[in-house]
Amino acid sequence: MCGIVGYVGHQQAGPILLEGLKRLEYRGYDSAGVALLDGAEDLLVLKKTGSPDRVGALMRQHENAAHTGISHTRWATHGEVTDRNAHPHCSSDGKFAIVHNGVIENYQAIRRFLEGQGYSFVSETDSEALANLIAYHFAKEPEQPGKNRFTESVRKSLLHVDGTYGLAVVCIDRPGEIVGARKGSPLCVGIGQGENMIASDVAAFLNYTRRVVYLDDGQVVTLSPQDYSITTVYDESVAPVERQVEWNIEEADLGAFAHYMEKEIFEQPKALENAMRGRFSDDCSTAKFGGLNVEPRELRQIDRVVFLGQGTAYLACMVAEYFVERYARIPVEVEYSSEFRYRNAPLDKNTLVFVISQSGETLDSLEAMREAMRKGYRTLAITNTVGSTIARENDGGIYQHCGPEISVAATKSFTSQLVLCAMVALFLGRMRDLSYAEGRAISQALRHLPGHVTQVLNLAEHIQKLAAKYAHFEDMIFLGRQDMYPIALEGALKLKEITYIHAEGYQAAEMKHGPIALINERCPSIFLVPRGESLPKMLSNVQEVRARKGPVILITNAPESEVANDAAEDIIRLPDGGHEVLDPVLFTVPVQLFAYYVALARGLPVDKPRNLAKSVTVE
Ligand code: F6R
Repeated sequence: MCGIVGYVGHQQAGPILLEGLKRLEYRGYDSAGVALLDGAEDLLVLKKTGSPDRVGALMRQHENAAHTGISHTRWATHGEVTDRNAHPHCSSDGKFAIVHNGVIENYQAIRRFLEGQGYSFVSETDSEALANLIAYHFAKEPEQPGKNRFTESVRKSLLHVDGTYGLAVVCIDRPGEIVGARKGSPLCVGIGQGENMIASDVAAFLNYTRRVVYLDDGQVVTLSPQDYSITTVYDESVAPVERQVEWNIEEADLGAFAHYMEKEIFEQPKALENAMRGRFSDDCSTAKFGGLNVEPRELRQIDRVVFLGQGTAYLACMVAEYFVERYARIPVEVEYSSEFRYRNAPLDKNTLVFVISQSGETLDSLEAMREAMRKGYRTLAITNTVGSTIARENDGGIYQHCGPEISVAATKSFTSQLVLCAMVALFLGRMRDLSYAEGRAISQALRHLPGHVTQVLNLAEHIQKLAAKYAHFEDMIFLGRQDMYPIALEGALKLKEITYIHAEGYQAAEMKHGPIALINERCPSIFLVPRGESLPKMLSNVQEVRARKGPVILITNAPESEVANDAAEDIIRLPDGGHEVLDPVLFTVPVQLFAYYVALARGLPVDKPRNLAKSVTVE
């Protein structure tokens, strides 16, 4: 949430910042802004509501050869979406500009104190309090040999701040420097040749360098074109650990697709292959994971697994419950990370905790993970983002390897989480009572999954036609049983996120206990009906809805002999993957496509739905 990019070096900063902002737009798109510093003039601050392109237009009106600058794309927390509340924010003495991601909880107290000291404020944001606090400390701070007065003023200010921040600051008296700091909001340094960058996400600077240092909470960094140094907020020196980013910038480009969501839906066969690659052990009919850091003996002792996540990742946790209980026969609990963190749940000592997070930065999930680790539980993570805070702090984990997911609505990350959860269930199951033959059947089926997903993607044209037919409705209901229930919830979540249609997911039998009151000819239902024992019950539920004039789209992998063509107004027939473990993924793809095409039919900004941002780093 909120994207930060800073540049200091031999090139012109403005265009590089603008390019970085566009790459980080998924983190927030309420407003954007830059502060440029060329050493001779005042700070040039340009900011505007809407996309970074509007700031680009302003930049073209202001010739500027600055080699130092910071920039920001905002997801509003404090203060409305206005030009005035857009970042960067300046101190009232005009010396500092700051971009900030996070929430300064005690900003009102800081603001009152600074107003008493003669500093003034023009915005309603918490971040402006920090800009003025830094100016206040800078004014007080004497020049000391061996100390950077700019860094010291930022560092000392942060000692008075409650809350979270990823921030970058420039100072008019120090034109070739940027100071950054992080607590709770991600920040990394890109190390170049005669230039250095700072950003919320490596995507912002991958065109310039793949050498990166991820900052930890409580660290402060000072960048110049040739150098960078890191300390803690308590002034302890830090030896930086440099890493190389694996993926390249082409993976984050749209290519021939109209939207990132479309691209990412169609990338799923590849993403699933990447998630599974090298992770099957054929001789033992099980899965294997390199980074779990847990001895089999310890895993054998586990008598409960807790899965934690938020949003779509939480729904992956719900599917994991079915997988792990079915194949490993271990009791599972699924909880929102945000609830787990504060609930102080009593857990058995042999509990294994799994946190699922695509970004690896979702603050609720990060804090839930820290809480579980603090209590001494073995805590593992499934995450897509190498170098993310969750990936760096866990006891062990599994990378999804599904490549960058840029669209705000999660798609390929969800299906790759489902596959990895199935593999975790296989792995834990084969340590217990899951037979060699059953393990083999599951692993063989999973290997064929990418091919089946390609077949589902071939239904895109049919699904687009249905989407056009249903796009004018304002309410829809998704229904499923067992492991199709979380997929019904995911279908509803995708639809409401990007089409703004009011959509609900229900467990199909629960319909009769209340929600059926919503059914009429203006409220279509989408039934997820896999082969198997729940099929007759689901078909009865379809009848109950149709009897009340509710239009029905039925998605099924059962043959025509079991689900006739007149069973519903519209039917989407999926390939039969031949094993139930594949169903959650195979039924997800059509609901993703349906949401995508409804959003297209409604002419909506698919990748940037209103009020949302990817990577939610506030509580
Ligand atoms: C929905 C969506 C969100 C995320 C949630 C968790 O399409 O993308 O609900 O799933 O914010 O994000 P991660 O997985 O990054 O922790």
